[in-house]
Amino acid sequence: MKDHYSLLAPYYNSLTKLVFGNELKHAKSHFAENISNKKILIIGGGDGLDYRDFQDQLAGDYWEISGSMLNRAKVNLAESKLTFCLGYFQAKPHKLYDEIWLHFVLDTMQDDEITVLLQEIKKSLTAEGRIHIADFFEPKNAYQRFLNKGMITFFRIAANHRRTGIPDYEQLLFAEHWQKSSEKEFVGGWVKAQLWQSG
Ligand SMILES: C[S@@+](CC[C@H](N)C(=O)[O-])C[C@H]1O[C@@H](n2cnc3c(N)ncnc32)[C@H](O)[C@@H]1O
Repeated sequence: MKDHYSLLAPYYNSLTKLVFGNELKHAKSHFAENISNKKILIIGGGDGLDYRDFQDQLAGDYWEISGSMLNRAKVNLAESKLTFCLGYFQAKPHKLYDEIWLHFVLDTMQDDEITVLLQEIKKSLTAEGRIHIADFFEPKNAYQRFLNKGMITFFRIAANHRRTGIPDYEQLLFAEHWQKSSEKEFVGGWVKAQLWQSG
């Protein structure tokens, strides 16, 4: 599997902090409450730096398709009880999670990949389980539209992203019978953290 983040991995977190300060970190941790007794699946967690402050409460599995990001996560989250896995997540019978975190990963995927992932993770949630999404939604003003275009172009060149725009997450989720239970906006509504449950 080719590692499309090998060049970016050492700088990724600093770059996001330079542009967005701690807003993306806050979006990722907004719904992370009472997690110490939960089994969590993190998909596309990158270098894991933004989870470091509460890593002692993290237990479950961490899937990444970038070896360089995963190696960083193993170091940054060495005190967690996470198991680190390289590759594409696949549901396993009887292996269930209380929460599945999809943070700034769906916007890197094509619509059909998102749909397949949503179907796969539905098989892996407990009855009360929920997914956390934190991601970029449609930009709200001219400045955000300009930055959004620049970021999409940058990631198409630097990390081989194939998207040319932001996915319509809600349409994709509703089509797969997920129900939104909570939402919080960041960066003036451009970034949202959401909780979804299987309908
Ligand atoms: C834009 S980065 C965000 C990283 C991290 N979530 C963060 O917010 O800092 C997207 C990450 O998702 C990973 N990724 C993309 N598609 C994936 C998939 N299907 N399964 C697991 N990881 C994936 C990439 O390797 C990359 O590390």
